[in-house]
Amino acid sequence: MIKTPLTRWFDLTTPVIGAPMAGVGGGALARAVSQAGGLGMIGVSGAHPAGFITEQSAIPAADQLPFGIGLMAWTLADRPDLLEATMAAQPALVSVSFGDPAPYVGPLHDRGIAVAAQVNTVLDVSRAVDAGVDVIVAQGTEAGGHTGQRATLPLLQEVLSLTDRPVVAAGGIATGRGMAAALVAGAAGVWIGTALLACTEGLNSPAARERVRAASGEETVLTRAFDVAEGLAWPERWPGRALVNEFSRVWHGREDELLDDAPARRRVVEGRRTWDPEASPVYAGEAVGLVTAERSAADVIREIDAAAEKALRAVPRLLG
Ligand SMILES: Cc1cc2nc3c(=O)[nH]c(=O)nc-3n(C[C@H](O)[C@H](O)[C@H](O)COP(=O)(O)O)c2cc1C
Repeated sequence: MIKTPLTRWFDLTTPVIGAPMAGVGGGALARAVSQAGGLGMIGVSGAHPAGFITEQSAIPAADQLPFGIGLMAWTLADRPDLLEATMAAQPALVSVSFGDPAPYVGPLHDRGIAVAAQVNTVLDVSRAVDAGVDVIVAQGTEAGGHTGQRATLPLLQEVLSLTDRPVVAAGGIATGRGMAAALVAGAAGVWIGTALLACTEGLNSPAARERVRAASGEETVLTRAFDVAEGLAWPERWPGRALVNEFSRVWHGREDELLDDAPARRRVVEGRRTWDPEASPVYAGEAVGLVTAERSAADVIREIDAAAEKALRAVPRLLG
């Protein structure tokens, strides 16, 4: 069994956190990850009603399994109800990413809830540490969904040199080998999203899962085009990594023009509604090429854990 400060803190049997993924990760996905000994998280965006948090949290809670909730900091100023519902659900961990976590750490700590934050730059690290964040998640640009510009490994090494708090690696980790590499580098755990995108417990549609299974690792793009089309107020420093499609081929890099093209923007909104894979965003990271089968998230996590343990057992041989 792999033991780290993360497994000890949250009483896990593997140092894997199932990344919060709005639109994909609800209570069933979180439950499956936690059943396998990791910590499953529920992803919440500014488009969710607070009731979503209450309903979805009840799923892992019904089985007495630990779970976490992932919030987006930039949405919370206008949506205090999301924070209230999150605190009421009594998760073991709440992540406050994509913005300043400072206003939320005190209220969460007061309720005995640990706080994580994804960081993308050195400045983000000092902001999170100063705010009292407990678990720092170094999120590389390889990650699926919204992310920064720096790659996982150099960012992870730099974050580890800046703080003694547990650091978790996110972005591009989808196998036991990748997990072992992050742990040997000094991470207390891994934060895995893309590897769970084709899981049976996800809230994404079977068609979206199929699209993920068919995609190669060369087919992602880090773009603001979908956010501009959908009229989302995402801060510009966090574009989203999604699968390349017809829409992104035309509009990535032309976001200013897109603002003036209502029919083009409508295509994405409609595409999401009718599930047109060439118009709708399918957020996924560079590890998507490793996702080839539709499986239970519990099986995915167990397999990654077993393969990581095997890879770690081989490490001493490097010193022979
Ligand atoms: C479909 C999708 C949705 C995501 N939604 C969220 C979210 O709601 N909140 C959040 O903090 N991160 C979100 N992320 C980012 C993940 O938390 C995580 O950083 C990322 O998946 C890790 O990299 P990987 O995809 O290579 O495993 C999302 C990622 C994906 C793929």
